[in-house]
Amino acid sequence: MITTLAVHGYRSLRDLVVPLGGLTVVTGANGSGKSSLYQAFRLLSDTSSGGLVSALAEAGGLSSVLWAGPETISRAMRNGEVPVQGKGSRRRPVSLMLGFATAEFSYLVDVGLPTPSRSLFAGDPELKREVVWDGPVLRPATTLLTRLRGAVKVRAERGWETVVEDLGPRESVLTTLSDPRGYPELAAVRAAVSSWRFHDDIRTDRRAPARQPQIGTWSPILDHDGRNLAAAVETVRESAWATVLDGAIADAFDGTTLEVTASDEGLFFLSLRQPGMLRPMGVAELSDGTLRYVAMATALLSPRPPSLLVLNEPETSLHPQLTEPLARLITAAAHRTQIVVVTHSAALVSAIGHEAPDAVQHELVKELGETRVAEQGLLTRPTWDWGSR
Ligand SMILES: Nc1ncnc2c1ncn2[C@@H]1O[C@H](COP(=O)(O)OP(=O)(O)OP(=O)(O)O)[C@@H](O)[C@H]1O
Ligand SMILES: [Mg+2]
Repeated sequence: MITTLAVHGYRSLRDLVVPLGGLTVVTGANGSGKSSLYQAFRLLSDTSSGGLVSALAEAGGLSSVLWAGPETISRAMRNGEVPVQGKGSRRRPVSLMLGFATAEFSYLVDVGLPTPSRSLFAGDPELKREVVWDGPVLRPATTLLTRLRGAVKVRAERGWETVVEDLGPRESVLTTLSDPRGYPELAAVRAAVSSWRFHDDIRTDRRAPARQPQIGTWSPILDHDGRNLAAAVETVRESAWATVLDGAIADAFDGTTLEVTASDEGLFFLSLRQPGMLRPMGVAELSDGTLRYVAMATALLSPRPPSLLVLNEPETSLHPQLTEPLARLITAAAHRTQIVVVTHSAALVSAIGHEAPDAVQHELVKELGETRVAEQGLLTRPTWDWGSR
């Protein structure tokens, strides 16, 4: 289980350390930094598939996603005694850092500005530093692997051993050192991160992948854009979770039942049989909210749940009546997988709190443009050290 997510220098997340539980609900006003937190989580997961640099480029490039405020915010600035201002020159290099901790191992990546060159890729940000350590807190004694620019060192029986000298600036140790026998802790980090799944606002327009005919193969994981929805629904319906899924749909839509049929060509078709209708409604005919709810239920009831599921505003386009069924689904799924829900729905927060009183709840607030966890003090902020380049 991930116990801590840490973000430094990403949009309004100047320096955020968030403790996580088995089920964590993150809420906050518009602009408080919820989506940024969700995106930061995704960027970390992109690192394990080699996609961090391109994901940053898609987000507008490093310079646009970097924290736009001063390097440090003094007490006098916070108290409003002096205006917010940057000091003449930076004390530390420009850096965007992302990390997470579990009780067993932890990881951080530090991304910075490119070294000037004549290459057409000269604008790509670079992975300057990566660290893997034992346990939740980074200290010299717990460090197991460090990557500083091109050089990767691992702790060996006698001191440190350099295992790679020329790792490319856009490559991560997570994708390049792939031998699990040589680097068991790295393999553990990669296995954890690559099994995280994210569900954002799934597309529901007429051309949405979820509404298209789909080749059906066994699909324990719903694709984030829903392109395998029919197969994923059928996978749940042929598992021990069939009655729970049927119950969740009937609970939400008054006795409606799901149906999946297959054509001779192996195409799967999802439809809903609603009381009062003479024929089932195909997936192309479902309302946006119905389609979203079916997708959410399918993702949450996977027979092979991911180790971590992060849901961004799962309540989008759902009628308030569906808030409680959704909260029940989320809390039931949290018994099998770690879940983080990012939401601005107070109703969903309170429904989850009602179903799962031990869920961790965080409210994000903005102070001088910086996202902070409300009421987090020195004692409630998990210990987190970024180290240095
Ligand atoms: N580079 C940056 N530096 C500092 N702040 C930034 C930067 N880029 C964006 N922001 C600010 O970060 C805030 C966070 O936006 P975000 O989309 O995460 O909010 P949100 O909580 O998801 O809001 P909503 O509920 O409206 O979706 C915005 O107020 C935005 O102005
Ligand atoms: Mg948002």
